[in-house]
Amino acid sequence: MPVGIDDLAMYIPKLYVDSKDFAKARGIDPQKLESGIGVRKMAIVDTNQDPACMASNACLKLMEKNNLHPKDIGRMYVATESALDESKAMNSFVIGMLEQVYGDGSFEHAGGIECKFACVSGSYALYDNANWIRAEENNGKAAIVIVSDIAKYDIGSAGEYTQGAGALAMLIKDNPRLLEFDQKVTSTIIKNEYDFYRPFGKETPLVNGNYSNLLYLIQVKKAFDSYKEKAKTTGLIKWDENNESITDKIDYFIVHLPYRKMGEKALAYLLRHEWRHLPRWQYIIKEVGMDEPIPKDPRGTIESILLDKEFMKLDEQFRRAFMKTSSYQDVFNRKMASSLEASSIIGNLYTASMYVGFRSMLEFEYKKGIELENKRIGFGSYGSGSSAMVFSGVIKSGYKEIVKSMNLEEEIGNRTKVSMEQYEQLRESEINPDYYITKPRREFILVKIGGNTSDKAGLREYEYIH
Ligand code: CAA
Repeated sequence: MPVGIDDLAMYIPKLYVDSKDFAKARGIDPQKLESGIGVRKMAIVDTNQDPACMASNACLKLMEKNNLHPKDIGRMYVATESALDESKAMNSFVIGMLEQVYGDGSFEHAGGIECKFACVSGSYALYDNANWIRAEENNGKAAIVIVSDIAKYDIGSAGEYTQGAGALAMLIKDNPRLLEFDQKVTSTIIKNEYDFYRPFGKETPLVNGNYSNLLYLIQVKKAFDSYKEKAKTTGLIKWDENNESITDKIDYFIVHLPYRKMGEKALAYLLRHEWRHLPRWQYIIKEVGMDEPIPKDPRGTIESILLDKEFMKLDEQFRRAFMKTSSYQDVFNRKMASSLEASSIIGNLYTASMYVGFRSMLEFEYKKGIELENKRIGFGSYGSGSSAMVFSGVIKSGYKEIVKSMNLEEEIGNRTKVSMEQYEQLRESEINPDYYITKPRREFILVKIGGNTSDKAGLREYEYIH
């Protein structure tokens, strides 16, 4: 049974920090942020917003847009790494908010959980819900998967310029209009790692930046190897292994985007591995102007590779030159660039970042006038800690109905630029519904945390503002 994403809707908070202001305040060259990292604006939440109300706002948009009623929905999963409670799942908050609009108990028949595995959990949620429909356990109902996060790092840290906030809701059903998932090829990899983690009670993560970058590349590549094997044995994709690469047969690459540049690097890493045994490599090496360096210990650990300074320096040099070759540029421009547009004006969205990338690709490729029907999309999802999932899907004939009205600027809406002083105040401030910067309209907001008695500690109250 064809199952996949029928439609999607996004919610991005209305405040942002401009990278030029950020660079000035932190003494960084603005060019490093704009071209080295690839960020121009970072979305941040107001004092009356949290990941649950962003998730509800995205979900309400999706339901209104598709005239859905809660009775049409059998499952609602929320994937996040910005959990609000150790026990109460984020989707229960979302159900509570939506029932303010659709009526008390209107979602009672449905089910769902909050999923956690850093940025990859939304992909697991999609996979599980697609299989729930394939197994015909859904009683004719659809599922909604919401990815919602606030990417927040320590002030002054290298991660601070890779922040962002937002949510995206996806409608998963049979015979989808937008994207049908390929079956029997989804591949995962999992390993106990400490590249990025946030112990209980800590608001910001502990990050090993360079280690996390390399681990991301290695893990996605390993999951891709397994995907490739499955695509070959199932016959889903056919290619001449002596002269072609499976990457030639995938029309778009959508990957996890902690920041725009990471997408560009992930594509370079993948193509280098997939192309180096092919006849085309000799021409590429000529254009690069140097041989591909080899680490002192090619079977070493990530730590030993990072400590091999001579190799790392040469490898960076090779990667930068490779990314300038006509072969890389051609694939990048045709198969990835459009998916990176949104990231540079929103920032990192953890679980939501890859799916906003997918949303971005659809809009900007459609605007170029490119026919997307039957195009195969390869997804490379990564979650620190760590797990990667590689899967694919094919764009369906109904996509135009959805994509033709996409307008990123319009959907994000008029945003307010906050000064660095306001940004730092917002970072430090307690939630106070009376002190917000943008006036909420047709959206859920957080109005209070905790009642006046200890038995109400941590209780969150939300309101829909008309
Ligand atoms: N002009 C133009 N470019 C410049 C520049 C300048 N003046 N100065 C530096 N740059 C370039 C650098 O050359 C580099 O580009 P290349 O990668 O092409 O070489 C780029 O800017 C970044 O500079 P640095 O290598 O010096 O990186 P940094 O020390 O600033 O740290 C980071 C970057 C490691 C990503 C850091 O922001 C970080 O720790 N972020 C959080 C962790 C993260 O996002 N990890 C990603 C993988 S893990 C994951 O994906 C899960 C998740 O969501 C967190």
